[in-house]
Amino acid sequence: MTKNISVGLLGLGTVGSGVFQIINEHQEELVHQLGCGVKVEKILVRDVNKERGVKVDPMYLTTNPEDVLLNPEIDVVIEVMGGIDETRNYILEAFKVKKHVVTANKDLMALHGPELQQAAHENGCDLFYEASVAGGIPIIRGLADGLSPDKIQKVMGIVNGTTNYILTKMTDEGVSYEDALLEAKELGFAESDPTADVEGLDAARKMAILSRLAFSTSVELEDVQVEGISGVGVEDLQIGKQLGLTMKLIGFADFQDAQLEVNVQPTFLRLDHPLAAVKNENNAVYVNGDAVGETMFYGPGAGGLPTATAVMSDVVAVIKNLLLDVNARQFLKPRFEKKLKTPDQSFGSYYLRLQVENNIQTFSEISTLLTDLKIGVDRIIQAPQQNGETEFIVITRETNLEKIRTALEDLQKASVVKEVKSHYRIEGGIGV
Ligand code: NAP
Ligand code: HSE
Repeated sequence: MTKNISVGLLGLGTVGSGVFQIINEHQEELVHQLGCGVKVEKILVRDVNKERGVKVDPMYLTTNPEDVLLNPEIDVVIEVMGGIDETRNYILEAFKVKKHVVTANKDLMALHGPELQQAAHENGCDLFYEASVAGGIPIIRGLADGLSPDKIQKVMGIVNGTTNYILTKMTDEGVSYEDALLEAKELGFAESDPTADVEGLDAARKMAILSRLAFSTSVELEDVQVEGISGVGVEDLQIGKQLGLTMKLIGFADFQDAQLEVNVQPTFLRLDHPLAAVKNENNAVYVNGDAVGETMFYGPGAGGLPTATAVMSDVVAVIKNLLLDVNARQFLKPRFEKKLKTPDQSFGSYYLRLQVENNIQTFSEISTLLTDLKIGVDRIIQAPQQNGETEFIVITRETNLEKIRTALEDLQKASVVKEVKSHYRIEGGIGV
């Protein structure tokens, strides 16, 4: 048997503890896969005296990054500490001394992925990041390997566990937004600052990473249109339920005729849509390819052990490459120049909730306004009246984003409309 391969960890929090646990408890599986064992040499933490979920001999812990990065025993650095600038520097240092890197850090990969991949390649190192998107689901390898010969046209899914957990609890159990977020934090799904989760930024980062890989084009975080769930009210979830719809934070990326659209937004789905059944912290990603057709990847999108499984799958891949001496062979430059779609090229059907005057002209004024913009309407539903005012729920047919934006501006100005309360895209429309 080949001698054990030593790894160093940067971080021993939710994910790092899961990695430590898998290395300890799945050693036989690792030896079977690799023909050698995997040994943890050193672990960087902020506080060596902190109580941890896993039992670790204090001699393994350090607060000095050099004990990991410059440690001659260590071949693979596992970055599970999070953060951006400091972490980027650590990874670049690791490459300089020819250490391979596995990271779960989507913030870093979304912002500096291409630069780090280039640096890894130049130094003859591997940089793998399976855990950065959709936790335990092997979506990165699915795109990079499994679907590599296909022309991918669409990637759509639920890629944030925290927001899916919150929306599930609010919709199915009537739990308040605040309580559901607190639970997601306690369960270790949410980021230490959950703003990135609830405002859609975490999902946007993951969609940037997936889009680069799926469409071989240089997608930046700024290219992703983002809206989070912090403004989603319980009223819309309840009205959606009555209409046979459920709300999810959907990441959507479409690549047609080499033109790209990427966005993250709260979206209504019909209950018979496969993504509607994805509950709690689970994630699911639909990938539509020219040859393969529709595929769906489903599983736990967050949490210590599921994410650590993805991290360890990368560690196994690095070590297999090491043993065959074929590291740094997976570097690919983007194939297509980036061209973003304009709003008139982005299509969808929409749910609009309007507070309106309860009088005879309201229905005809709203219908005329939408007809003049050539926006088809599937339904207008009137909610019970209060104080001479009432609410209209308008469900449009498929239209483009430019027209919807104009309609929202015109509706705000219309005398019969008191307020546009909310508006959401409906994936695939409301159906018959
Ligand atoms: P976490 O629980 O907050 O753990 C972070 C760990 O890194 C802690 O052990 C902390 O040390 C250490 N650390 C942080 N900053 C450090 C610094 N400047 N110097 C030294 N040590 C430092 O985070 P996590 O949830 O495990 O997430 C880790 C990474 O995985 C992040 O990039 C996250 O986005 C990503 N990720 C997380 C999940 C998930 O479900 N949690 C899923 C996929 C990806 P102390 O313990 O001493 O404080
Ligand atoms: N905070 C992230 C989520 C962790 O909730 O999906 C997994 O990336």
